[in-house]
Amino acid sequence: MSGASVVPVITVDGTSGSGKGTLAALIAKRLGWHLLDSGALYRIVAAVGLARGIDLQDASQLASAVASLDIKFHDAGVVVDGQELGLRIREEAVSSGASVVAALTEVREAVLDIQLAQRRPPGLVADGRDMGTVVFPDAPLKIYLDASLEARAERRYKQLIDKGLAANLLALLAGLQDRDQRDKGRTVSPLKPAPDAFIIDSTSLSIDAVLALTLERAHAIGLV
Ligand code: DC
Repeated sequence: MSGASVVPVITVDGTSGSGKGTLAALIAKRLGWHLLDSGALYRIVAAVGLARGIDLQDASQLASAVASLDIKFHDAGVVVDGQELGLRIREEAVSSGASVVAALTEVREAVLDIQLAQRRPPGLVADGRDMGTVVFPDAPLKIYLDASLEARAERRYKQLIDKGLAANLLALLAGLQDRDQRDKGRTVSPLKPAPDAFIIDSTSLSIDAVLALTLERAHAIGLV
């Protein structure tokens, strides 16, 4: 067993809007572990592809671009080749581009090395769609977080309204349903719970309750 493979990992996979990003960040903060936002990597690939005029279906050009990128995550965002991209990667064009590039095997392979390199002591919390199934299958704790489509859409709606932004509940519902279908239906690394995942349905749970369940589980298996 290599040194890296004994560094503990908690994976947090699940549907869009289930709260997994928030949960992963809270666990990492509580335990003082590193955090991997793997979705941000696919967003970065899309943003770089768009900026360089690369066709987002061109797997080999995108994969070779990934190999040469210098990516540094920091608290408030991410710096890629010296340029802050934290806000850019959350834009709509990049979000939809991310789901296109995420379906390409060569891109997923190129991103795999970056993900594995994040496994550093004292531990890693990895958030995404295939963290427990493909990237860290030996993780001792795998969370799969889900919530009803309606609950996820309502949460998004409230977040947007609270920020003073326009929001349409029906459009949000349709958008989430599309992303669910793309994430679960693709052939490469589809979203699904790992066989040994701890499945949490957060439809009627607060994020604090979900965090408490996760930490209880981590204690119960002697991880923390
Ligand atoms: O979690 P997110 O919305 O930031 O993810 C952006 C896109 O990347 C989304 O289309 C799902 C995809 N993704 C993936 O395929 N595998 C991951 N491990 C993480 C995200």
